[in-house]
Amino acid sequence: MDTLVDNIIAEASGKEANIKMRCRDVSVFYAEKQALNEVNLDIKPKQVTALIGPSGCGKSTFLRCLNRMNDTIDICRVTGEILLDNEDIYDPSIDVVDLRADVGMVFQKPNPFPKSIYENVAYGPRIHGLARGKAELTQIVEKSLKRAGLWEEVKDRLDEPGTGLSGGQQQRLCIARAIAVSPEVILMDEPCSALDPIATAVVEELIDELRQNYTIVIVTHSMQQAARVSQETAFFHLGNIVETGSTDEIFTNPKDPRTESYITGRIG
Ligand SMILES: Nc1ncnc2c1ncn2[C@@H]1O[C@H](COP(=O)(O)OP(=O)(O)O)[C@@H](O)[C@H]1O
Ligand SMILES: [Mg+2]
Repeated sequence: MDTLVDNIIAEASGKEANIKMRCRDVSVFYAEKQALNEVNLDIKPKQVTALIGPSGCGKSTFLRCLNRMNDTIDICRVTGEILLDNEDIYDPSIDVVDLRADVGMVFQKPNPFPKSIYENVAYGPRIHGLARGKAELTQIVEKSLKRAGLWEEVKDRLDEPGTGLSGGQQQRLCIARAIAVSPEVILMDEPCSALDPIATAVVEELIDELRQNYTIVIVTHSMQQAARVSQETAFFHLGNIVETGSTDEIFTNPKDPRTESYITGRIG
């Protein structure tokens, strides 16, 4: 009974216990062209949510709304509401640099800075003032590289350029860089699409481990990957979210015929 009352109060205040990010009626326009049409999605904490759907349906556009990366695109306009822990991330009082530390991003193509492995990871904590002195900074670098599953491979060559690593290692370095500023949510836009199958398997395993500590939202064009790494799935189609639910449900018992066509390979 108490839980019911709590839930009603929570619902009334828009604060639901099991929601990390709440997206309401989110529309995105590039100049006159509408790319997302009033989409709604609740992102659960410490779960992997996969965004799937045909090319051009708005997955990356939506992902970029979650840490205001669309702000960097001049012609782009976002409407609707997105809350992180019940706080409106589009509120004028929000510092977007801090927001992007809380909601980190890993891109399709690994993009380490042209600096050492150490510096790639140390840069964020340094500019955010997260370490008091060199020893603490080094601890953050080590912990982040460990969490990204890269430490053993690089611990003896931290001063070598990040760009000298293999593609899979570079992507894990980018994940370590995101982790270093203590994010709560990590966004990944097709993080394995430039990787070979072995490096992909390593990153997928890592994503599964990361959900112990982080909320993850991943865009993928691979149905197999969505099924392997995610607990929740949202299916996008022509700028709409057609269906959301547990990954198991979406893949075994899709409710919308468009979802079914996509996952069985008839559209895409
Ligand atoms: N920077 C941009 N400027 C103009 N249109 C864009 C831009 N980025 C994406 N779009 C358009 O928005 C729509 C959704 O694109 P996108 O979010 O990249 O889809 P997806 O990631 O699902 O392939 C497409 O029609 C695309 O052409
Ligand atoms: Mg995309």
